Amino acid sequence: MKPKYVYVNTLGCQMNVYDSRQIVSELTAIGYEKTPFIENADLIVLNTCSVREKAEQKAFSFLGRLASLKKKKPALMVGVGGCVAQQEGKNILKRMPFVDIVFGTHAIGRLARQVERIEKKRCRIVDIDVATDNDLDSIRFQEINTSDFVTIMQGCDNFCTYCVVPHVRGRETSRLPDQIVEEIENLTVIGLREVTLLGQNVNSYGQKEAFCSFPELLSKVNAIDNLWRIRFTTSHPKDLSQALIDSFRHLDKLCHHIHLPVQSGSNRVLKKMNRNYTREIYQEKVAALRDACPDIAITSDMIVGFPGETQSDFQDTLDLIRAVEFDGLFAFAYSDRPGVPASRFREKINTAEKKERLQTLLNLQEQMTKKQNQALIGATELVLVEGISKKQESTDTSDGDEHQQWTGRTSTNKIVNFTWHQSPPLDAEASNGAASPAHMAVGTLLTIKIEKAFSHSLLGKPLEIQTSPFGKKGENYYAA
Ligand code: SAH
Ligand code: SF4
Ligand code: F3S
Repeated sequence: MKPKYVYVNTLGCQMNVYDSRQIVSELTAIGYEKTPFIENADLIVLNTCSVREKAEQKAFSFLGRLASLKKKKPALMVGVGGCVAQQEGKNILKRMPFVDIVFGTHAIGRLARQVERIEKKRCRIVDIDVATDNDLDSIRFQEINTSDFVTIMQGCDNFCTYCVVPHVRGRETSRLPDQIVEEIENLTVIGLREVTLLGQNVNSYGQKEAFCSFPELLSKVNAIDNLWRIRFTTSHPKDLSQALIDSFRHLDKLCHHIHLPVQSGSNRVLKKMNRNYTREIYQEKVAALRDACPDIAITSDMIVGFPGETQSDFQDTLDLIRAVEFDGLFAFAYSDRPGVPASRFREKINTAEKKERLQTLLNLQEQMTKKQNQALIGATELVLVEGISKKQESTDTSDGDEHQQWTGRTSTNKIVNFTWHQSPPLDAEASNGAASPAHMAVGTLLTIKIEKAFSHSLLGKPLEIQTSPFGKKGENYYAA
């Protein structure tokens, strides 16, 4: 494995000098070597001092000079430790968008594992917990991503007969809209670009509490500066309102994707599941969604082998899959959950049969997804860059940063992997002079030409860094 280099700059007192030695020894354990040359570094660590204002200024002016280095080398990692880190925490991430990790004076023993986490996920981390415990599971630290989830409600009132959620999570309760908006605003300041609003049934958000409707919440979130994309999950078909469908027409940040679990294509089974819609109603909603947003991607959940599901019920499910042409399916073999009504239903389907139905369903969907993905070959898609691709994570990255495989998603939630060649990067014409290719990093919007299609992802060639559709530079959160 090619060695990775760490450059450490130590400011302040003997305590910091001592700590820096420990920082290096921590990092050596994960393959770093100390280098005296800042240009060679894969990781730059600044160990700061906050005893006087001057010392603090010195830290920020050193960091300021790193911005241009990072632009040349997107894979470069920057860490800030020491007393300013402890004192300022995530304010440093706000002020210095190219900093990857802020670690406090008690976090040195956790640094190596946090750095590995960033290498894998390209997230940003603030760890200023003062616990002496170095177990990552028991300390409080914040991981900041380009794309993240924000819970808008908890619990569920629907009592689908197979489902344990209402029993373990209690009744549905919504969070205050202002609280949700504030949380997202705070996250965008430190690099969030895409939010997924989470709830078991977001469509009924705020109804019981008479806060506001879900479409109203969406339009509040849509107004947040520096947020580029909104997603949500999950939607119960029975509560999918025309107003929500119309949101896809009106809200420019709403991604063209909906996850709309149908569970079964058989009306008889849907009734036994207590889902409160028929397949005809489901199909009407799908048609209305496609009318509002012609390129919308629709994904769903399916349960096979629900108690009493006959071959003909199962055929109805396959039939619905063919009719709707889902962009993706999560399918599950029914399993008994303690205390739920379906666990007492008769006519249980045996395991082998459930397995077989599941496989048949998955094969059908895989063929369909592959066909849809193949139809995208040659198309140009707008992709939000999220990090290093999973595939890359699991293989050796020793061929160098320049050839790392990055990953992102289209508005329709398709995964697009691509390789970033720094030189020569893009065709000069395409880059349009708008942004230097070296600006690419996590949080960048890129147009990508799709060249290959697989069943779960696409492979493409980056064309140009995009300005966001909302009048702001889309390159990322790096200050010019
Ligand atoms: N609130 C969401 C789903 C939550 S659970 C909704 O209503 O859509 C996620 C998925 O797990 C469900 O959509 C369902 O497909 C599956 N699931 C839940 N309980 C199950 C069970 N007992 N057996 C098999 N699959 C189950
Ligand atoms: Fe609620 Fe979803 Fe479970 Fe139904 S499947 S009870 S809607 S969590
Ligand atoms: Fe609990 Fe969520 Fe599973 S509510 S049961 S962890 S789906």
